[in-house]
This record gives sequence, structure tokens and C-alpha cells, in this order.
Amino acid sequence: MQAGSQAMTLSERADALEEHMMHELEHIVTKSVLFNLADGKVEMEGGAALMAKNPGKYMLMGADPRLPKMPDKPTLIDYFRCRFASTAHLLQSATHALKAGHSEKVVLACLLHDVAVVSFIRCDHGYWGAQMIEPYVDEEVSWAVRAHQALRFFPDEAAGYAYPDLYVKYFGPDYQPEPYIVDEYKRARIHRHYMTARLICVNDIYSFDPNAKVNLDDFVDTIGRNFKQPKEGLGLDNSPSAHMWRTMLWPTRFL
Ligand SMILES: [Fe+2]
Ligand SMILES: [Fe+2]
Repeated sequence: MQAGSQAMTLSERADALEEHMMHELEHIVTKSVLFNLADGKVEMEGGAALMAKNPGKYMLMGADPRLPKMPDKPTLIDYFRCRFASTAHLLQSATHALKAGHSEKVVLACLLHDVAVVSFIRCDHGYWGAQMIEPYVDEEVSWAVRAHQALRFFPDEAAGYAYPDLYVKYFGPDYQPEPYIVDEYKRARIHRHYMTARLICVNDIYSFDPNAKVNLDDFVDTIGRNFKQPKEGLGLDNSPSAHMWRTMLWPTRFL
């Protein structure tokens, strides 16, 4: 027998640790299929199996105690502070737009352009991000957030936007966007809010300057004036995208 074949592999150890941590919790925390797909597994654990593995416990049907506690009526600012995995890129883009003297709508669009990436999902982040904010912002802002995803792949030298060197580095020199992105670009090019989406691209800065001072406090007023915070709390209202915010609020609820 080969040495080490009886020992746990690293991923088995990680699974065992995760299992152990789950048992420490008062409730049964469940992973949705999407979380497993991200680990390369088309899998889900059924309710009966979970109950059998966790005798005497109920399914989690509320807040996950491992995550930062959110207030009863959360605001967009609370999501920035407690649910967004990274805010530097958003704040730097918005700061750049602010310093360039752009309108509040452009500044807000920059502040929220990658909201889906930092809180939810990367794939088709422009579409997800636009849907998340659509009920709460001016149509110009959400439209621009949706379109920036496609426009990022197409230069507009007149507007001061070249194809990003970083994309060559990330995706290789031969990468070609899929036809649905090309079509989205063509539609966006002739849309009345084209320039708002293009300005997101122009201010979409990847290299974080360690000396640049960025602070969410600088945008609290802009958010207050341009983001319709629901009185019930963001995600606890009945807007068409409230469920998306609720999912971020309670990502491991059983149902
Ligand atoms: Fe983006
Ligand atoms: Fe970005």
C-alpha cells in the first residue's frame, strides 16, 4: 500500500472540518446547488439525509450565525459593510468619476457597477447587478450597469476607452466575447444612455492605488438622493428583486 493512501486528502480534511463546524451550529446550515457547482459537483444534500446526520436539530430558516449580523431593516450601506466581500474597486471607480466631475447618476452607476461580483455572482454580473438595483434607481443607472459588461470588451477611443491590457492578461490574446455579448454591444452602441455605460468603463479602474483615499462615507449622500431605500429594509420589501437581496441576507436558509 502506498504511503498516504490511508491518510485523508486535503479536500477530505476540508470537508471533515466543514462537517465538524456544521455540527457546532445550532441549526442545520444548507448549501444550495450553486455552491456545490462552484466546487465542480452537480450535487445536493436532501432534507432527510441532513436531518439524519444532525439528530435533534432543525433546518436553518433565518440568519446564518457565522455571517456578520444585519440590522432588522437593512439599507444598501449595511450590505456594503456586511455583505460585500470587497468594496475598494467600487469606491475607487466612483471616486474617479466624482473627481472627473460626472453627474450623480454616473457616480452612482460606477459605485454599483460590479455589485453582483462583490456580493453575488461573477458570471453575467452586469445583468444580475442591473436586476438587483433596477427597482431602486433611475433607469439610466441600471441600464448602464447591465451594458457595461458588454461594452468593456469593445474599445471606444474617442471616449477615452481602450481594450484593457488586463483582459489580455486574464483571458488570453485570442479571447472573443460570445455572440450574445456582441449583440448586447451593438444594441448599447445606439442606446440613449450609451455614454453612461461607457463612462463606467472609463472609470472602471483595476489597479488599486494604495495611496488613494476612498471612503464609503463620501457616497452616503449620493446614495441617499439616488437610491430609493425601502422603508421595510432592502430585501424585505416586495420589489421585483427583493428576493435577490434576501438571498444575500440569508444565503444558507433551507428554503
Ligand atoms: Fe464589471
Ligand atoms: Fe469593475
